[in-house]
Amino acid sequence: MKKLQRIAVFTSGGDAPGMNAAIRAVTRAAINNGLEVLGICQGYKGMIEDNFIPLNSQHVSGIIQKGGTILQTARSKEFREYEGREKAYRNLREHQVDAVVVIGGDGSFSGANEMSAEFDIPFVGIPGTIDNDLYGTDYTIGFDTALNTVVEAVDKIRDTASSHNRIFFVEVMGREAGFVAINSGIACGAEVIMIPEEANQIDKARSFLKERARNNKSSIILVAEGIEEGGAYEVAEILTPEFPQFEIRVSILGHIQRGGSPSAKDRVIASRMGAAAVEALMDQQKSIMIGLVNDEIVHVPLNKAIKMHKPVSKSLIQLAESIATFGPPK
Ligand code: F6P
Repeated sequence: MKKLQRIAVFTSGGDAPGMNAAIRAVTRAAINNGLEVLGICQGYKGMIEDNFIPLNSQHVSGIIQKGGTILQTARSKEFREYEGREKAYRNLREHQVDAVVVIGGDGSFSGANEMSAEFDIPFVGIPGTIDNDLYGTDYTIGFDTALNTVVEAVDKIRDTASSHNRIFFVEVMGREAGFVAINSGIACGAEVIMIPEEANQIDKARSFLKERARNNKSSIILVAEGIEEGGAYEVAEILTPEFPQFEIRVSILGHIQRGGSPSAKDRVIASRMGAAAVEALMDQQKSIMIGLVNDEIVHVPLNKAIKMHKPVSKSLIQLAESIATFGPPK
């Protein structure tokens, strides 16, 4: 295998706080190991459109505290076609790129897996998504910051809920997974937490509301956007008519969960993973994702990270129910 001289790094999929810390660590670790670094702007779209920029130590100074990604990200339909991937590959070769670091989620890793199977170019993935839904790692970059954003928002909602004795259905992100919901729900003391991994979530909320009827107190019901019933508005629409005695409101937190200055934890995780990605490429690794398991850096085959499902821990679900206002559902 040709000696590594130049690597490219890019961000792809939904952005996440901490991606800049990862870009910075990849760039600094590579340069400090004698490598050159190119940034690819706007994900696979930029790879196809030849949107490459040089990255040196100065380019990545002063970004560790910034949310979002200085390289931007975009979704690319063209990349789904072989011709698009071939164009991307030709651009990588034109720029004499020897290997690529992709910072993103499972969709971004699928693209990298496909490309490295079709062309001779090694990819290493860094898990960057607020969803924390990637198999093989305890943490994805952005998850911790998103949790803190949700907790801060729900604490504010609880102020007005208690002033008006209202019930709030608060919807959080997470795609088809409940990691954001279960963790932020425990952290903000939500009375009910509805997650896609568990069935009959409406009945859980319904039995809570029946119990609550006895003590007219405000409540927060946290709803993961991926539950089978739809989302917070759908849940409220079903339950409001059944409880006319309650004042019910809905709050969709939305994309504030994707922004903000990354937490210290996300900055450290991103820095560790960025440096580990460069080390892996220098060790001639390819088609792996850098993970963090029990606080140790691990290498996870990319196709496993993509295909395997990461379950929400049962113990966390049981904990949430065991310390809920009325205890586990009857
Ligand atoms: O994957 C991150 C995420 O924020 C999900 O939690 C959410 O469902 C999705 O991205 C939203 O995608 P978009 O930013 O394209 O609307």
